[in-house]
Amino acid sequence: MHIESGVSLKPFNTFGLPAVAQQLVRIGSDADVRRVVDHPQLGRAPKFILGGGSNIILTRDMPQLVLKVEVSGRRLVEERPDAVIVEAGAGENWHEFVAWTLAQGWPGLENLALVPGTVGAAPVQNIGAYGLELKDRFESLDAVDLVTGRSVTLGPAICAFGYRDSVFKHELAGRTLITRVRLRLPRPWQPVLGYLDLERKMRESGVAAPSAQQVFDWVCAIRRAKLPDPARLGNAGSFFKNPVVTPEQCRDIIGRDPEVVHYPLPDGSVKLAAGWLIDACGWKGKAVGGAAVYEKQALVLVNRGGAIGSEVMTLARAIQESVYGRFGIRLEPEPVVV
Ligand code: EPU
Repeated sequence: MHIESGVSLKPFNTFGLPAVAQQLVRIGSDADVRRVVDHPQLGRAPKFILGGGSNIILTRDMPQLVLKVEVSGRRLVEERPDAVIVEAGAGENWHEFVAWTLAQGWPGLENLALVPGTVGAAPVQNIGAYGLELKDRFESLDAVDLVTGRSVTLGPAICAFGYRDSVFKHELAGRTLITRVRLRLPRPWQPVLGYLDLERKMRESGVAAPSAQQVFDWVCAIRRAKLPDPARLGNAGSFFKNPVVTPEQCRDIIGRDPEVVHYPLPDGSVKLAAGWLIDACGWKGKAVGGAAVYEKQALVLVNRGGAIGSEVMTLARAIQESVYGRFGIRLEPEPVVV
């Protein structure tokens, strides 16, 4: 086992924030995890699991042992009459995996095209976009327990998926390292087209029955127009979750701001567009040091160059205070703040 020390994490987080890992080990297999667990010193050390680094805000150096997940491989598990089951190693790039499934003729993940990060990180925050969440296609995953070293297979119930949430952000955080994920692609394929931006694409193009490849191309185009490419402008996607409020709270806000973008949920509560709330408070383009609010989408904070974690968090707190002051709503960060 190779233990790297004093490793810069700047290239390993899409926000491009500086931080150093005291110790880092790359994980290519279940056996690699067990070697760490059985190691006389490392076995007991607190651990931080690093995937593609697209959903973390690094505010300090890492005293924990960083386990950088690099498990590779993609394969067909099973073709059933009602579904195709596919599997990928946790270290595979999510978008490349989605593109590969389509190229094999197995549609079903196209709405999640271009979501940054790795396959292993996808269940952790139950990634979602354009009307589809990972949980809608989830079959099971393999993981290794970081205390016992045992390999386990976990189904949907134990993963406790919620809106950008799962058991891996709570009880199993730092305790279980995901090594492989299996997705279920239902047959016959049916497009998921309910999201407003996709409906608009259908109207504009005049295509009433799009193929999966067409949906994939639309999703890529929508994301490229709205969201900054982390390779050019550091960011971690949406910085805040869309808040859920009671119908009374929503009515109160509509009374004062009739334009507020809101979506009624099946349980009677209402989801508000955090991007709209932040935008309404005039934050687009505002900056603290190198950290700024993206000009085209107020929900995304970006690194204009040389940003450090504390600048990002100072900006985030100022946004939270201003949204609370005007709307009485507390915004919650969406990425994991370390
Ligand atoms: N809006 C504004 N001003 C802004 C930003 C947004 O008025 O500055 C309005 C938009 O016009 C739109 C509404 O707010 O009417 C919602 O915006 P959008 O459709 O872009 O979606 P979102 O709520 O900002 C969510 C997810 C994204 C996901 C998209 C598409 C969260 C926190 N974010 O964004 O996920 O790609 O929907 O499904 O749920 C991510 O998690 O990192 C992410 C990018």
